[in-house]
Amino acid sequence: MKLILATSLLSLLTPVQSLNNGLGLSPQMGWASWNDCASQVTSSRIKNATLALINTGLAAKGYEYVNIDEGWLKGRSSNGDITVIDEKFPEGMKALGDFIHDHRLKYGLYTSRGTVQCSTAQYNATGSQDYEVQDANWLVSQGMDYLKEDSCGGGPNNPTDAFTDYATMRDALNATGRSVFFSLCGWYTWYAPSGDSLGNSWRISGDGTNWGALTQSINANVELGKYARPGAWNDPDLLVGTGIGSNRGEDKCFDGDTEIPQSSDWYMTNDEQSRAQFTMWCIMSSPLIISANLNQVSEYALETWGNEEAIAVNQHFRTYPEGTSVEDEIYQGIRIFGDDMEYDKSTDKGSGVNVWAKPLEEGKWALVFLNNEDEVGDVTCDSECFEQLYDLDAGVKYTVRDLWEHEDEEEELVADEEGKFEYTAEGLARTGGVKMILLTPVD
Ligand SMILES: *[C@@H]1O[C@H](CO)[C@@H](O)[C@H](O)[C@H]1NC(C)=O
Ligand SMILES: *[C@@H]1O[C@H](CO)[C@@H](O)[C@H](O)[C@H]1NC(C)=O
Ligand SMILES: *[C@@H]1O[C@H](CO)[C@@H](O)[C@H](O)[C@H]1NC(C)=O
Repeated sequence: MKLILATSLLSLLTPVQSLNNGLGLSPQMGWASWNDCASQVTSSRIKNATLALINTGLAAKGYEYVNIDEGWLKGRSSNGDITVIDEKFPEGMKALGDFIHDHRLKYGLYTSRGTVQCSTAQYNATGSQDYEVQDANWLVSQGMDYLKEDSCGGGPNNPTDAFTDYATMRDALNATGRSVFFSLCGWYTWYAPSGDSLGNSWRISGDGTNWGALTQSINANVELGKYARPGAWNDPDLLVGTGIGSNRGEDKCFDGDTEIPQSSDWYMTNDEQSRAQFTMWCIMSSPLIISANLNQVSEYALETWGNEEAIAVNQHFRTYPEGTSVEDEIYQGIRIFGDDMEYDKSTDKGSGVNVWAKPLEEGKWALVFLNNEDEVGDVTCDSECFEQLYDLDAGVKYTVRDLWEHEDEEEELVADEEGKFEYTAEGLARTGGVKMILLTPVD
């Protein structure tokens, strides 16, 4: 009895905070290799990517993790330790980690919770099943700061098996004594309610291959906002570029166009969709992990991912007074207007409009207006939509700042005589046009 009382009292006083590894207090930011070169990663490509993150100015804006996805691990030595593909990583993984650390960035590595990794035609390697403790120790000995653990090569994808596997790795990482960001990569919404007890972030949907898949991730995230909190985030997948990745430019990873899925259609069809994804990822407090060749993407993509006002919306949130119940603490934006969206890449047809909002410090709110219909159009947040912004004050004026134009609009947002608010974002592009505004109360 006493124990139960003590525990429940403690949980009232201490904010619920995932793994207590001190990481992910804001959504993680960085770069990952997957949508760039898939499993054709090499040490020199990763070094290039590290330098590109710095040279583009993105590292200085908070993109700190350099994450190597599948493709470096070869198998196990006779004592069970991980072995590395020497031809691709001649100096070994520790030396690569040192290079990344010398550039003041953080080092991400990858494994899978099953007996084998996900594998492409070019690559096949062992997973961490039954080797969790040994792998955690080995990975940490290489300097790892971040682990993405995929869900391939395991038993059936059900919560019982998956949670057991992930909890085993969570405890193995904890036992190393090093704080390691733990990124779970299962592909189902059922991870979310238990996510904070297992990892710092958890995938909620399948691979975000193009705007069609990403609209499904956005739809899935609508119901999951309540599970996001500092140290624990819903992950709708990587930030996708617009088709000038390593497979298409001069510096190709693959010769053929059909060798891996990434070389055919794992890209956005237009710039707006890449910006729409980033804008939504900011309001949804999603991990901001760029996955494209930064030496080859467009200036527009660099400007998109480098928008510091948008990044601030992603990284910041309201602080709640002590004693606020967990359900009342909102750290991830909420959909306040619209229904689920669809997009079919093969026909370039879309549907749905959304308005999302995220509460920020000092009574501020960020709002995103998204047009996913086939025609250019206006998107309105009417009084019913605004009523969900729980502390918007009809007696107060709000400045309206356009976070893509980087300027304040001439008209402030004010309530009408009945105390109701309304705002229309005009002329948004088809299938992925967005506007993001920041409302700031004027004293
Ligand atoms: C290990 O877990 C304990 C209990 O949650 C936590 O207090 C500690 O900070 C963790 N250590 C690391 C290195 O993650
Ligand atoms: C690294 O980047 C340089 C240009 O900065 C390029 O010449 C070289 O081919 C790149 N190497 C790899 C392996 O990507
Ligand atoms: C990869 O390894 C697994 C287990 O050893 C095997 O079942 C599978 O056929 C292999 N796949 C390829 C592409 O070699």
